[in-house]
Amino acid sequence: MKLAVIYDSKTGNTKKAANWIVEGMSEVEGIMAKAFSIDEVDVEYVKEAKGVVIGSPSYAAAMTPDLHRWLLGNSGKIGFGGKLGGAFATQQYTHGGGDLIIQSILTFEMVSGMLCYSSGGACGAPFIHLGPVGVNNNMEKHNGLDHYKGDFLIFGTRFAQKATEIFD
Ligand SMILES: Cc1cc2nc3c(=O)[nH]c(=O)nc-3n(C[C@H](O)[C@H](O)[C@H](O)COP(=O)(O)O)c2cc1C
Repeated sequence: MKLAVIYDSKTGNTKKAANWIVEGMSEVEGIMAKAFSIDEVDVEYVKEAKGVVIGSPSYAAAMTPDLHRWLLGNSGKIGFGGKLGGAFATQQYTHGGGDLIIQSILTFEMVSGMLCYSSGGACGAPFIHLGPVGVNNNMEKHNGLDHYKGDFLIFGTRFAQKATEIFD
């Protein structure tokens, strides 16, 4: 089963997180997972994917305008409806709005007819309520995206397990 991760990233943080999700997805037997920047999405691959996880940096506590534009222009064309959907974010402040980005992506996915999944509290620790958020060390020197690697990996694995349960 194919799964896709689609992201916008200008300075590499969200791309790094996307690749960790792919790594976690690939732990599940029978899963082929690929990450795509919005600048180079393999549309045919994503059409075939049963699940799509979408990620963005926090830009003033919102998804990037480029991602929003890409979603508006492509979700119908690709046929997001019926696929499993998830979301993630990166930010530079602990309180930088990541959950709001995730919520707006999940809302977009629901409007597109996707089935949204975060793992929530159902899988125990780490508790990922809406989707994983990573904080980089641009502004908070005690922080760093690598601190959140485990959360992105396990989110990817849980997402792939749920997709397998639903679609296999
Ligand atoms: C225009 C702009 C607005 C931003 N707004 C926020 C913000 O509201 N909160 C925050 O925590 N980080 C904010 N950031 C920082 C980015 O979200 C953060 O560095 C992110 O990890 C960048 O992702 P990327 O490396 O994938 O591009 C902003 C960055 C830019 C360029």
